[in-house]
Amino acid sequence: MPIQQSLSIIKPDATKRNLTGKINAKIEDAGLRIVAQKRVKWKQAEARKFYAVHKDRPFYKDLVKFMTSGPIVMQVLEGNNAVSKYRKIMGATNPKEADKGTIRADFAQDIERNSVHGSDSAENAAKEIKLCFKKAEIVG
Ligand code: CMP
Repeated sequence: MPIQQSLSIIKPDATKRNLTGKINAKIEDAGLRIVAQKRVKWKQAEARKFYAVHKDRPFYKDLVKFMTSGPIVMQVLEGNNAVSKYRKIMGATNPKEADKGTIRADFAQDIERNSVHGSDSAENAAKEIKLCFKKAEIVG
């Protein structure tokens, strides 16, 4: 199994409800290592850039508004098949469809306030990590 990295974001709905530690426990219990982590508040331009791939979707404007509404915790996760492993423990984007025991089934409020983001491919993980972290901030 390849050692990979994935970009994770704990979203404003989760930081607001003090869930960072509970989400980190699920990440670490699944065997992923948090090799970088910082809590920030995004400016509009940063959120727009990160979610540029969704710029033509009807939910884009609200997504940017939500992601700049409070603190977020950006993380780099490392481990065997980190991208697919994290997607599995996050659960489906819509919490109504998320499997029992996943982060989104346990904590998400709705499809927008869905507590976490995770990269959807190794290629996008590399792009997202580069956008959010300097090399020196990632310590494996
Ligand atoms: P995320 O993994 O961060 O990627 C894009 C986000 O857009 C997604 O999680 C959801 O939080 C948000 N979103 C809001 N509405 C929708 C929708 N109808 N379909 C997909 N994603 C949505």
